[in-house]
Amino acid sequence: MANIYKESSLGKVTVTEDHEVVIGQVICHNGTPTTSKICARIDPAQHPAPGRIYAVKGRNPGGEKILILVRVEKMWEHNPHEDALSSNINQVIPIEIAYAKEGQSTVIYRAFEADTLEEISFISNGKRNGEEELSLNINNVTTLPRSGWPIIEVSDELISKALELAPDPDLGLDIGHIHTTNIPVRLKRDVIQTHLFICGGIGRGKSYARGVIAEEYWAHKICQINIDPMGEMVEATKDLGGMNIKPGEGFTLPLSALQAADVVDAIPGHARSKTTNIFSLIKYAHDKLLDEKVSKLGQEFGVNDLVKKIEDVADDIGYGAKGTLYPALLKAKSLSNFKYIGDPFDWKTHLQDGKIINIDCRGYSVRDLRLITASIARDIQRLAKKREIPFVVFSMDEAHLIAPNDDNVVTTQVLREIARIGRHYRIGLIMTTQSPADMDKSILKRLLTRMIFAIESDQLQAIRGVFSDAPDEIIKQLPKLPKGTCLLTGVSETIKHATLTKVRTRKTTVGGSTPNVFSSDKRRPFPNKEK
Ligand SMILES: Nc1ncnc2c1ncn2[C@@H]1O[C@H](COP(=O)(O)OP(=O)(O)OP(=O)(O)O)[C@@H](O)[C@H]1O
Ligand SMILES: [Mg+2]
Repeated sequence: MANIYKESSLGKVTVTEDHEVVIGQVICHNGTPTTSKICARIDPAQHPAPGRIYAVKGRNPGGEKILILVRVEKMWEHNPHEDALSSNINQVIPIEIAYAKEGQSTVIYRAFEADTLEEISFISNGKRNGEEELSLNINNVTTLPRSGWPIIEVSDELISKALELAPDPDLGLDIGHIHTTNIPVRLKRDVIQTHLFICGGIGRGKSYARGVIAEEYWAHKICQINIDPMGEMVEATKDLGGMNIKPGEGFTLPLSALQAADVVDAIPGHARSKTTNIFSLIKYAHDKLLDEKVSKLGQEFGVNDLVKKIEDVADDIGYGAKGTLYPALLKAKSLSNFKYIGDPFDWKTHLQDGKIINIDCRGYSVRDLRLITASIARDIQRLAKKREIPFVVFSMDEAHLIAPNDDNVVTTQVLREIARIGRHYRIGLIMTTQSPADMDKSILKRLLTRMIFAIESDQLQAIRGVFSDAPDEIIKQLPKLPKGTCLLTGVSETIKHATLTKVRTRKTTVGGSTPNVFSSDKRRPFPNKEK
């Protein structure tokens, strides 16, 4: 194979006969090469970095030219002049020993280990205007890379194509760039339906990235409802012409959006007291209303309806004694203290044309957050099942509080259902958390596109299953990832290979400190995406 290449020197850089820059050569080392891993000696003039993608150039068993894309995992230097013994001798016998450096020395070299990603072969489509036209055939790696084959730089376009990272710019979601490169990371729109998971330590870029996603979904006219416990999306929502609403102030939810278990959860009291006849009566009446009004007539109901129903049914089920009925009525009436329980919100009118509705939950307790989230989830689930609203993405920050790893929490139950079958009735999820270890595992494993920002090592264990084919070296680097850089992983149909991604700059205001970029121009910035 070596003799195909007439190696010349272009300055210090080695190139192949096709003038491709050679960055190193496959070596036989530590049980490699294999179809999944190679090691390479690095050309002295080159400085690859972990995460960078190159191609091994060779031929398949049929003799056709191929490129095998490889991603650098780790690098090391070999220098016997500085091994433990030599270093020790230099210390105890302080005689200056000069030796030839890398490039001149026969024993000093740098090397890297890399994972193979894709095998590219070229199919000739015949000649057009005298030039041979080639199309790419991209497959799993089946050709064994051979020791001695050169490793060359490849164009950003080829990498994007092979990794399926950049579909038509107007149809993809512009997330950023592959870390340390200019290769754009554009996701296929399908990821919207596969549910998105954003996790990372405090201040690592989760909310910033959520804003980027909001801009992209908005550009694609995808409706979004966001639960915003910290008010981080308020400014961005304004920029995108969306709607900020505060529970209890222009935004209320009907009691009928809650299940009996939510109602019982909402009423203050010790968990043990909630198994008494008083609560059984409330539950029974609520279930009856859900059946009679919501299921049969499609009508909503409120606190007064519940109170009346409790009075009506108490005798039928033998709970008419004053000791049970009166406290049940009082507890049901106490639900009117929740200022966000009231008339139903008109989702059908507001969820249109890619609108973003941000529920500003600043100041609300975890219990309130759960109740608000559960009732919105049920409301939109009901409308989506009847096809009365367009595809909508339901998102929330602090997901570990809203959907903790606890079967008894109602939000966990309803979000599990959306995570499991939501895409069938056109609801997508985005869940953001700094503490995946505390989040419900069965929801977590169904969020199939993931943006993992720098995260403490104690949280890594909880997300073991979500790294897809990310190499160990990159996983080890996770706690130290720079702010705004994440490991992007997914299922092979959406994100072929785990990719370290630098999230792009926001167009919308971050946390209200920078000027409103859209204030003077309400036009969508990606006109082609309106197709
Ligand atoms: N991709 C990025 N490009 C530029 N700046 C960024 C990027 N990501 C984050 N930042 C900066 O870092 C700050 C903190 O990021 P962000 O608010 O997204 O963190 P977070 O992970 O949501 O933290 P918390 O857990 O506290 O909510 C941002 O206000 C912004 O200044
Ligand atoms: Mg945040």
